[in-house]
Amino acid sequence: NLGVAPVTYGQGDRPPRGDYARARPDYTCDQDWEAYTAEEHDLYRRLYERQAAQLPGLACREFIEAVQHLGRPDRIPRFDELSERLYRLTRWQVVAVPGLIPEEAFFKLLSERRFPVTNWIRKPEEFDYVVEPDVFHDLFGHVPLLFNPVFADYMQAYGAGGLKASRLGACEMLARLYWYTVEFGLIRSDDGVRAYGAGILSSAGELRYSVCSPEPHRVPFALERIMRTRYKIDTYQATYFVIDSFQQLFDATEPDFTPIYERVRAQPEIAAGTVLPGETLLSPAR
Ligand code: PHE
Ligand code: FE
Repeated sequence: NLGVAPVTYGQGDRPPRGDYARARPDYTCDQDWEAYTAEEHDLYRRLYERQAAQLPGLACREFIEAVQHLGRPDRIPRFDELSERLYRLTRWQVVAVPGLIPEEAFFKLLSERRFPVTNWIRKPEEFDYVVEPDVFHDLFGHVPLLFNPVFADYMQAYGAGGLKASRLGACEMLARLYWYTVEFGLIRSDDGVRAYGAGILSSAGELRYSVCSPEPHRVPFALERIMRTRYKIDTYQATYFVIDSFQQLFDATEPDFTPIYERVRAQPEIAAGTVLPGETLLSPAR
């Protein structure tokens, strides 16, 4: 996995990293900003610089415009200051968590417009690759688009939809939607496809790969198709799904998923790299 991790709690038999003993019942904790070392702030700065330099021509316009809201690029932002700016614009907040949290707790926070951000940063030797999401992935990857009103509403709706999916036993189908939009989504622009997914935007190598490489498939967004499609957690994606706009994403996911889950359950899964008959692929950007 290259810059991001699956949205499930813990990784197989390894316990999750981070101090869960100090978390509250809703899994939030203090950021403990004072405890970051100068080396940790410097690591954030280097990660930020490397990614920011790659954004032109690869990231979508909305992301590039919003990334400045993160504040000073030379140190790990204070979540309380960031939340103040965010709340004023889209009524979202960021809250600290010790790392990956259980699905239901995650959905609940999103439904309350509180985005959980891991409070620890990777080690210097994990500069290119970290197995679990850290503060850089969570902040740089996810927070800029929370400043976009339509995307902000999509994230809240996703959280509420997650609570419902838990009751319906449909979390796997919903997780695929998250994976192929919030984490690895591409969007059309007048100049070709661009990235909006956090897993891509926080990855050193996958950003260019997803937008420009002739290798992966780029398929127009289709809700049920996505819910049937498996994904890779330890390599670059074999397929990316492309939306026309955030409004399209919001509108397509607005209807009640209950009958949709039923239909999807009745159909076979699709392997990560499969192209279905009749599917048109989009070209990479140049
Ligand atoms: N409309 C979905 C439902 O009824 C909720 C949802 C919205 C899920 C947006 C994901 C994203 O379950
Ligand atoms: Fe993520």
